[in-house]
Amino acid sequence: MREQLEEIRRRALAELGDGAVEAAIENVRVRVLGRTGELTEIMRAMRTVPNAERPALGRLVNEIKSELEGRIATLSDALKRAAMEHALGAAQIDVTLPGMHIPRGWLHPVTLSRERMLEIFAAMGFEVVETQDVEDDFHNFGALNFPADHPAREMQDTFFLPGGLLLRTHTSNGQIRVMEQRRPPLAIVCPGNCYRRDELSVRASPMFSQIEGFMVDRAGAITMGHLKGVISEFLRAFFGQGIGVRFRASFFPFTEPSAEVDISCLLCAGAGCRVCKQSGWTEILGSGMIHPNVLRAVGYDPAEYQGFAFGMGVERTSLLKLGVDDLRLFFENDLRFLGQFRSASEAAS
Ligand code: DAH
Repeated sequence: MREQLEEIRRRALAELGDGAVEAAIENVRVRVLGRTGELTEIMRAMRTVPNAERPALGRLVNEIKSELEGRIATLSDALKRAAMEHALGAAQIDVTLPGMHIPRGWLHPVTLSRERMLEIFAAMGFEVVETQDVEDDFHNFGALNFPADHPAREMQDTFFLPGGLLLRTHTSNGQIRVMEQRRPPLAIVCPGNCYRRDELSVRASPMFSQIEGFMVDRAGAITMGHLKGVISEFLRAFFGQGIGVRFRASFFPFTEPSAEVDISCLLCAGAGCRVCKQSGWTEILGSGMIHPNVLRAVGYDPAEYQGFAFGMGVERTSLLKLGVDDLRLFFENDLRFLGQFRSASEAAS
């Protein structure tokens, strides 16, 4: 039996040599140490061994058992370590290398201007409401007191869509959409895209954006004085406290009286130059007291409510503020141009 044991040990150790693979190790473990394995069988057969020899044989079995278990543990550890080293080696992480550069974008100058404008109005208590780009004739024209054959409809050469719809030519539809839904007091600004059949040029684009604003309350509570105050405050906050502001009588179907607003020319500070055509002034927005017909169109009684409205082009206003002389630069996405506004964007965020 002793020889049998030595034979088991020799064979097992031969199979558990240094290069042994996992399957071979497992094979020895099951064959020798398993529940029906060779050593277990010998332990069972111990009953037949004479008493005197039994302790020594028992010790030998235990000795072989722990020797093989130790050998298996050593080999398994070595295999695990080798597998881990292989995996780490394949990943090739060099923690001393510099980090990967992930390019980060920034805001478009027109977006920056729009956000600044809305921020100024919000500080004066105006609420920002966005309305739709796709409109019907009533909300873009009819309710704003454009008669059916009014030449102003042609001035705003419209993109018509199937089903009597159109792309809004201005954000003034926001007045109608909001007033239809709500009752005064209202102080609202509506930013949004507008569309007109214009060729892209130095001064015009078929798509551009505007901010419409309006304030409505009980008749007598809101006057032309409030309009002048809000607009002047806005223009000085946006362009600088030193800017000149003037109101000029004008015409819009949806306001009465109507006023166009000019600021002193930013280039010559009012002295007169080529850009302001020697006038010293630049037109910046349209405004007026909301026409009684507009109030009626949304179900307000003009004897009960009164208000003012204004609208301005965001690109146009940005152009003046930034000293950019060609509107197309805003739409071409040339990074050499847009990159100049990167730090302004980072400062604003
Ligand atoms: N809707 C006008 C435009 O697109 C701008 C405008 C002028 C809006 C006067 C107003 C306003 O609310 O009162 O040119």
